[in-house]
Amino acid sequence: MPKTDADSFTRPASPAEPAYKALTRHLPEPRFVPLPGYTRIAQAQMLARAEAFYRTMDQRRTTRHFATDPVPKRLIELAILTAGTAPSGAHRQPWRFVAIDDPRLKARIRAAAEEEELKTYSERMTDEWREALHPLGTDHVKEHLTDAPWVVVLFAEKFGLRPDGSHRKNYYVDESVGIAAGLFVAAIHMMGLVTLTHTPNPMGFLRELLGRGTNEKAVLVLPVGYPRPDAKVPELRRLPLEAIAQWNA
Ligand SMILES: Cc1cc2nc3c(=O)[nH]c(=O)nc-3n(C[C@H](O)[C@H](O)[C@H](O)COP(=O)(O)O)c2cc1C
Repeated sequence: MPKTDADSFTRPASPAEPAYKALTRHLPEPRFVPLPGYTRIAQAQMLARAEAFYRTMDQRRTTRHFATDPVPKRLIELAILTAGTAPSGAHRQPWRFVAIDDPRLKARIRAAAEEEELKTYSERMTDEWREALHPLGTDHVKEHLTDAPWVVVLFAEKFGLRPDGSHRKNYYVDESVGIAAGLFVAAIHMMGLVTLTHTPNPMGFLRELLGRGTNEKAVLVLPVGYPRPDAKVPELRRLPLEAIAQWNA
C-alpha cells in the first residue's frame, strides 16, 4: 500500500533539490489527505463495471428532438456537480454553467442563435463544412432551444479576476472545460435524459444575454430533457477500437 500520510510528501531539504524548489519556499506547505473513498475491487468486478459502463455510454446519442416535459432542477444540479468533478489545469476549475428554464430567456436565446446560425449556414460555412454536416440533417432552425425544459450554457473562464481587478491566469482551459463537458454529457445520459452539444457560433451573444463577465467565453449550449417520442437520430457508426487506439509504438 502506498503511504498517503502528509509526511511522505513534505518537500525534501536535500542538497540535490532542484533550484526551482526555492522559488516557492515562501508559500505555505501544501497539504495532503489520504486518497478518499478508494478501495481496490476484484478484477472480475472491474471488468463487469467497465463493460457495463461502456455499453451504457455506447447507447448515448446526441438528440435534437426534445419533449417539453419538465425536468427537476436537482437533476441539472447533479449533472453540473458531476461536471465539476473534472480534472483541470492547476485545479483552476475554469468552467461555469448557466442553467436556464425561463421560457422567455430560452426564446431570446433561440432567436439570437437562429439569427447567427442563418448567417453561418448561408454565408460563413465553407462548402466542405456544409457537406460534412449534411448527414446530420441540421439547419439554422433550433426548436430544441425552446422545447427542452433546460438549456445549460457552458462558459470557459479564460482567466480569473482578483478582487482588485487584476487577472489570475488559468491553465489548459480548453482541455479542462472539454473534460467537464464530457462528464456533464455522461451524467445526463446516466440519469436517463438526453442532451445536444450545440455550438451556435459565434456565441458572443450568450455572454451579453446571460450577463457574464468579459473573462468568460461561451463554449457549448446544452439543451437537456426527455427525447420526444418520435425523436430520430442520424444513422452513424463509431470508429472501432483499432482505429482509435494504439498499443505501444
Ligand atoms: C464541440 C461539439 C460541437 C457540436 N456542435 C453541434 C451543433 O452546433 N449542432 C448540432 O446539431 N450538433 C452539434 N454537435 C453534435 C455532433 O454533431 C454529434 O456529437 C456527432 O454527430 C456524433 O453524434 P452522437 O453524439 O449521437 O454520437 C456538436 C458536438 C460537439 C462535440
